Amino acid sequence: MNKRKRKAVIAGNWKMNMTPDEASAMISELRELVKGKRGCEIVLCVPAIDIPAAVKAAKGSRIKIGAENVHFEEKGAFTGEISAKMLTSSGVEYVIVGHSERRQYFGETDETVNRRVKAALNAGLKVILCVGEVLAQRDLGITAEVLKMQTKIALNGVPAEQLENLIIAYEPVWAIGTGRVATPEQADEGNGFVRSAVEELYGKKAAEALTVQYGGSMNEKNASDLLGKVNVDGGLIGGASLVASKFAAIVDAAQ
Ligand code: PGA
Repeated sequence: MNKRKRKAVIAGNWKMNMTPDEASAMISELRELVKGKRGCEIVLCVPAIDIPAAVKAAKGSRIKIGAENVHFEEKGAFTGEISAKMLTSSGVEYVIVGHSERRQYFGETDETVNRRVKAALNAGLKVILCVGEVLAQRDLGITAEVLKMQTKIALNGVPAEQLENLIIAYEPVWAIGTGRVATPEQADEGNGFVRSAVEELYGKKAAEALTVQYGGSMNEKNASDLLGKVNVDGGLIGGASLVASKFAAIVDAAQ
């Protein structure tokens, strides 16, 4: 299938950065810079506390707002957590699930990732599912196995009809926040492993239609080489998504 038929998605992941006021200011600047850039979907995933300000600042623009996490239960005694319905009712359209920082620091497992993916999709959210190997796994030569395992467990029980609301981001953990970006070839290969796991689960057509992003030190300088690869349909961007001009330059690279 022609890569051009897949939806390109450039998404920012602000992590634990930006106050609501800073969020409003950044988005007001960004919306002018990305005006008329129709070649890709533009998403900013923001801290929960920033959501109302971000939704307001993005209103009427092409920028969609996402969250950085979601709980798998609908409601109840889960102190500090946020449900899918709370997100959708606040104007959130996307949510990141299974980011490596959640796996590394907050006890996220492949099983809880799976529960969150299902809860989010069932609530009508678009999910950006993150998978990626750590350096020791790459050095052991098991990158393909790790990516396939993470992808298959995360999608366990997800019906094919819901894949249109799913994006997978291949994020090699060793490239996140380190400035050590994967080569375009490594990104293409990793994204290809993810796509073939989806093919094994849902067939070739579904796999070829799926948007697979690369994430990990993507910036305004390396974006066009990475996005030029056949399996790289977009980016999930941390550090460079905090500055409107840098993020807009990555959006430009995806046009
Ligand atoms: P980075 O983060 O662009 O700062 O490496 C990417 C991510 O964690 O999604």
